[in-house]
Amino acid sequence: MVTAVYPGSFDPATYGHLDVIRRASVSFDQVIVGVLHNSAKSPLFSVEERVNILEKATKSMPNVIVKPFDGLSVNFARQNHAKVIVRGLRAVTDFEYELQMAQTNRVLAPDIDTVFLTTSLEYAYLSSTIMKEVAKFNGDLSKFAPPEIIEAVMLKMYEK
Ligand code: PNS
Repeated sequence: MVTAVYPGSFDPATYGHLDVIRRASVSFDQVIVGVLHNSAKSPLFSVEERVNILEKATKSMPNVIVKPFDGLSVNFARQNHAKVIVRGLRAVTDFEYELQMAQTNRVLAPDIDTVFLTTSLEYAYLSSTIMKEVAKFNGDLSKFAPPEIIEAVMLKMYEK
C-alpha cells in the first residue's frame, strides 16, 4: 500500500490542483491532501474552509482524504505513513522553488521522495492567486474551478 501526501495552501483549490489530485489517486493507493495552516500568510479561506472545499471537490475519489496540517510537510508525511510527497509543476518558474523544497525535504527525510506531476497544459497558467485576482474584479471563473468552489469564492468576496 503506497500512500502519498499532497501538501499545499489550496486557498482555494483550482482545477489545476484537482487534476493533480485525480492523477495522483490513479498512481497511489491512497492520497492524503494536506492543507497547510500557515499563520505567516493571510489566506482568503480558513484552514477548515479549505479542507471543507477540498472534501466536497474530491468526494468522487474514494482513495483521497483531506487533512489540515501544521509544520513541516515531511512530518505530515511521516505521521501519515507516506513515503511520497506529490507536487504539481506548472512551468520553469515553479522549478527552482520546487527543487529547493524537494531537496530540503530530502535532507530532512531521506526516506521520503518527492514526485512531480506536470500540470495538464490547460491549467498551466492557473493558480489560486490568479483565480482570486479575477474574482476580485468579477471576472468569469468558470474555467478555473468547479461551481461549488466558485460559489465559495464569490460568497467570501461578498463578505469582505
Ligand atoms: O500551495 P503552496 O503554497 O505552493 O504549498 C507550499 C507548501 C505548503 C508545500 C510548502 O510551503 C510547505 O511544505 N510548507 C510546510 C513547511 C515545509 O515543510 N517547508 C519545506 C521545507 S523548508
